[in-house]
Amino acid sequence: MTKLRPSLSRARAFCERFGLRLPILLAPMAGASPPSLSIAVASAGGLGACGALLMQPKAILDWAAEVRNVSNGAFQLNLWVPDPPPERDPAHETEVRSFLVQWGPEVPSDAGNATPPDFSAQCEALLAAGAPILSSIMGLYPPEFVSRLKARKITWFANISTVAEARAAEAAGADVVVAQGMEAGGHRGCFDASGAEHEMVGLFALLPAVVDAVDIPVVATGGIADGRGVAAALLLGASAAQIGTAFLRCPEAKTNPAWADALAVARPEDTVVSRAFSGRAGRSIATDYVRAAIAPDAPAPAPYPVQRGLTAAMRESGAKARDVHRMQAWAGQSAAMARVEPAGEIVSRIWRDAEVLLS
Ligand SMILES: Cc1cc2nc3c(=O)[nH]c(=O)nc-3n(C[C@H](O)[C@H](O)[C@H](O)COP(=O)(O)O)c2cc1C
Repeated sequence: MTKLRPSLSRARAFCERFGLRLPILLAPMAGASPPSLSIAVASAGGLGACGALLMQPKAILDWAAEVRNVSNGAFQLNLWVPDPPPERDPAHETEVRSFLVQWGPEVPSDAGNATPPDFSAQCEALLAAGAPILSSIMGLYPPEFVSRLKARKITWFANISTVAEARAAEAAGADVVVAQGMEAGGHRGCFDASGAEHEMVGLFALLPAVVDAVDIPVVATGGIADGRGVAAALLLGASAAQIGTAFLRCPEAKTNPAWADALAVARPEDTVVSRAFSGRAGRSIATDYVRAAIAPDAPAPAPYPVQRGLTAAMRESGAKARDVHRMQAWAGQSAAMARVEPAGEIVSRIWRDAEVLLS
C-alpha cells in the first residue's frame, strides 16, 4: 500500500477527529444558512454550518433540531463576538438616510436603532443546541464561555485573519483556527473592526504563516471553490477547506435568484470590500449601490450595526424586486466558479478532484 502524502494524511486525521468523510466544511453564513444546505453537505460527508448572528435563541434550537433529525448531526454553530455599542451621530445618520432614498424607500428615523439579538442569550442557545462544534468570528469567546465549552467537550473553531489573531485564538483555548483570506465573501472577521481594510492578507500568504505559527489544526477559507483550491490549501498546510460562496447557487441554498445569477458572472475584480451594507467591512459584488456608496462624494457609512438598520428598507425592497443592485450580494473572489448543482454533488466533485491532484 502506498503511503499517504502528508497533506492527505493531515486531512484524514482531521476528518477522523470530527467524524467527517471528507475535509470540506460549509462556511457559516448569517442569513444564508438554511437547514437544507447543511443537511446536504453533512449527508455528503462534510460539515454543515449555521451563521446564527441574526437568529433568536429559539430559531437556533429549531435549526439544530431540524438538521440533526435528517443528517448525522455534523455541523458547527457560529456567532459574531460583539463590539461595544457604537457611538451615534444623528446628523450623520440623517445624511446617510437621504443618500439611501435614491436606492430604496424612505428610511424611518429610528431605523438605525435595530440591534442584533442578545449575545448572552444566543450563547446559552448554542450550548443547549448540543452542537459538536461552535465557532466564533470578529473576536474570541469570553473565557467563562470557553470554560463551559471545554467542560461539555464541545470543540471551538476560531475564525482569524492574521497571524497575531491566530496566536491569540490558540492561547485562548481554540481547538482549530479557520484562516480567512481577504478573498472571502461576506464580512471580514478582523478582531479589530477598524483595521479590516488595512490587514487584507491573501490566503496564499496567510495560510502557511498561520500553519507555522500555531500547533492546532488550520482550516483554510476564502476564495476556495473547486478541487484545485482545496488541493492548494491542503498543500499549504491546511487540514480542511471551508467554502461559502461556491454553495450559494445550489438549490438547497435558496439564494435570491438575482444574487445567484450575479455570482455566475462576477469576475474576481468585480467584488469589493466595503462597509456599505452593515458598517462593517465585507466583500460583495460591486453593484451600482456599492459603487455609489464608496464614491468620494457619498456619506461615510454609519458604524455597525447602525448602517445595517439604515440599509434594511433598501435591501428588503431590492430583494423583493429581485434587483441585485439594491441587495447585499455577498460574494468571494471566486464567485463565478459557483455552479447550479446540488450541494452534495459539489462536495463530492470538489473532493474527488482535489484527491486526484494530491495523490
Ligand atoms: C453570505 C455570507 C455570509 C457570511 N456570514 C458569516 C457569519 O455569519 N459568520 C462567519 O464566521 N463567517 C461568515 N461568512 C464568511 C464565511 O464563513 C467564509 O469566511 C467565506 O464564505 C469564505 O470565502 P468564500 O465565500 O470565497 O468561500 C459569510 C460569508 C458569506 C458569503
